[in-house]
Amino acid sequence: MFPAERPRRLRRTAALRRLVAETTLSPDDLVAPLFVAEPLSEPRPIHSLPGQFQHTLQSLHEEVRALHRAGVGGVILFGVPTKKDEYGSGAYDPKGIVQAALGSLRDEFADDLVLMADLCLDEYTSHGHCGVVRPDGTVDNDATLELYGRIAVAQAQAGATVVAPSGMMDGQVGAIRSALDGAGFFETVILAYAAKYASGLYGPFRDAVEVEIADGGDRRGYQQDPRNRREALREARADVEQGADIVMVKPAMTYLDIVADLRRELDVPISAYHVSGEYAMVKAAAANGWIDGTVVALEQLTAVRRAGADFVLTYFAREVAEELGR
Ligand code: PBG
Repeated sequence: MFPAERPRRLRRTAALRRLVAETTLSPDDLVAPLFVAEPLSEPRPIHSLPGQFQHTLQSLHEEVRALHRAGVGGVILFGVPTKKDEYGSGAYDPKGIVQAALGSLRDEFADDLVLMADLCLDEYTSHGHCGVVRPDGTVDNDATLELYGRIAVAQAQAGATVVAPSGMMDGQVGAIRSALDGAGFFETVILAYAAKYASGLYGPFRDAVEVEIADGGDRRGYQQDPRNRREALREARADVEQGADIVMVKPAMTYLDIVADLRRELDVPISAYHVSGEYAMVKAAAANGWIDGTVVALEQLTAVRRAGADFVLTYFAREVAEELGR
């Protein structure tokens, strides 16, 4: 008996495969995370993220030009300040490093690509937590919200089209929406890190922004427990109710079930963050000649799209966009 169904028919040529492909991946769907550092005179390579840099304002512009040429949809900025303090004041200082970078990028690129800013305190606090820390070492949710509102307004004022709260405080989206509206920034988009897990995959990022959490602490008191799935939907629904325009899942590869759940249950755009550890693992294996890094990057980013994400934040943005354009 010969098989009645022959799925291989449609796999025979590249043209057929293209014609019937269910998922697309295009540079438009990629957002590049970029680090900009206050004190530098030269861009500094980030050891654990090969090919990524702490940028000076000048090298940041050059990188964004290359990303724009490759057709990348947007960039998201993270700041590396010279001074940190207990309240992370560099995050909402109108002259802070991310605000300076946003203003300068807006002058050159206007709305040619989407300018996003990560909205959090951890890069700016002396203790490395994403919020205000109480004497007992726990993070004070409601005191933190007020500061998030200030950061949002500073970033919007400086030229961010999108602000992306990543601190996982309860009520952060509502607090930020009302701060933005109160200052007249009705059009500033909120991309909420809705389902952000307490992950081991953020290690290289913490190198990149020089964050060390005080007293060997961690973020399990505010980021989500990797064992939980339903909870992600509850978080994301709450964010949408509070005014999130887009929701994000983070990390990506280990949480594709969450991406698929949110896609099925919500009608807002969904994004996912392919994080530093995910990038570093691919780069490390590729550097050893154990895998083809570009093939694996394309496969992983396509998987994120297949699971239902509209776009992906990834350190591979430039490399993959250039590859797609070849
Ligand atoms: C918090 C923030 C983190 C990342 C993005 N925003 C770090 C954390 O929660 O510890 C990690 C991103 C990555 O690993 O690429 N400001």
